[in-house]
Amino acid sequence: AMESGSARLPITDWHAYEDELRSRLGVNQKLMNRITSRARSAPKRVVYPEADNYKILKAAQIVHDEGIAVPILLGNREKIEQIARQNSLDLEGCEIIDILQDEAKRNEYAEVLFRKRQRKGITLYEGKRLMRERNYFGAVMLDTGEADCYITGLTKDYGRSILPALQIIGVEDGVQRAAGMYIVLHKKGPFFFSDTTVNIDPTAEQLVDIIGLTARAVRFFDTEPRIAVLSYSNFGSNVGELPDKMRRATELAKRRFPDLILDGEMQANTALSPQLLREHYPFSVLAEKGANTLIFPGLTSGNIAYKVLQEIGGAEVIGPVLMGMRKPVHILQLGATVRDIVNMTAIAVVDAQTYNQPL
Ligand code: ACO
Repeated sequence: AMESGSARLPITDWHAYEDELRSRLGVNQKLMNRITSRARSAPKRVVYPEADNYKILKAAQIVHDEGIAVPILLGNREKIEQIARQNSLDLEGCEIIDILQDEAKRNEYAEVLFRKRQRKGITLYEGKRLMRERNYFGAVMLDTGEADCYITGLTKDYGRSILPALQIIGVEDGVQRAAGMYIVLHKKGPFFFSDTTVNIDPTAEQLVDIIGLTARAVRFFDTEPRIAVLSYSNFGSNVGELPDKMRRATELAKRRFPDLILDGEMQANTALSPQLLREHYPFSVLAEKGANTLIFPGLTSGNIAYKVLQEIGGAEVIGPVLMGMRKPVHILQLGATVRDIVNMTAIAVVDAQTYNQPL
């Protein structure tokens, strides 16, 4: 059926429908296209612990067919094959590991976990129990190098999904806190929001880490970061715990990363309006072009800001890109789309190609 001039896709193909809707927004796809072609140049093995799920399997088929990644699927083999049959998916070339059927491997991985966590209250017995959980099993695969990247989080809340990776993979050298970034693709250009997913109330010192990780991640997307450290005040216009924290984070970050285009503390509209900056704050390094990278004071503001834009702002968001982990781990937003999973896979693969460039 036709409606107001636009062809409607059958509702059974709602993923394609959703993609179609998004492409009508006219957002810039170049950034993801570049990442996807880089991923194709050297595909990596990606383990998906939540493979008994249509969206993961569809994404696995796509990344395999497009030569972006070599999927490793964790889950009940019969269930996976059934979902594939029902949806005419071809999982040729995807390795399926039914972890409950592989006691030898689980025991081997339980030893790995025990060695890592024996002084953190984990017994070998507990380790064996945890290896029946696919997020733990997958994280050990990444740790031992049997997979190059790890993507989970579709079916569980973020906190529970990230924990096995924090315990088994942990952060890279020189980093205290992992953090999550979202790319907001908008007509006005790409914007980068951080931390939108991990640290609930970071200290000024932790924010410095987050700023460094974010700057590197923005460069990863071929963009020069212009960073605004956000608050509800502009350059000391308010005193209070939060503006003070953001002011201090700005000072510390300027000292640690003297080459960054960075300023704060400031309000979001100030950050995004070069005109306003030039008129009232001409002393700021951001006055020339405004900011493209926003550092939020905490998870509440960061998470809410990107979700509002995603739903009503005419923006496509890509992420969350998890930064600061020792190996490529990405935690999907609960209920992510097939397209989100494919995007995160391409990012994880490129991540694995170039891992651990210094901050
Ligand atoms: N970076 C690195 N490591 C961390 C971090 C971090 N940000 N936070 C905790 N850890 C480590 C700890 O050091 C600890 O390691 P250890 O066991 O080796 O000593 C381990 O992780 C567990 O630490 P806990 O203190 O037990 O965990 P905590 O209760 O702090 O939980 C968590 C960590 C799950 C990340 C928590 O901070 C959280 O829930 N954050 C919010 C997640 C969330 O709800 N996000 C919003 C939704 S996301 C979205 O919308 C897409």
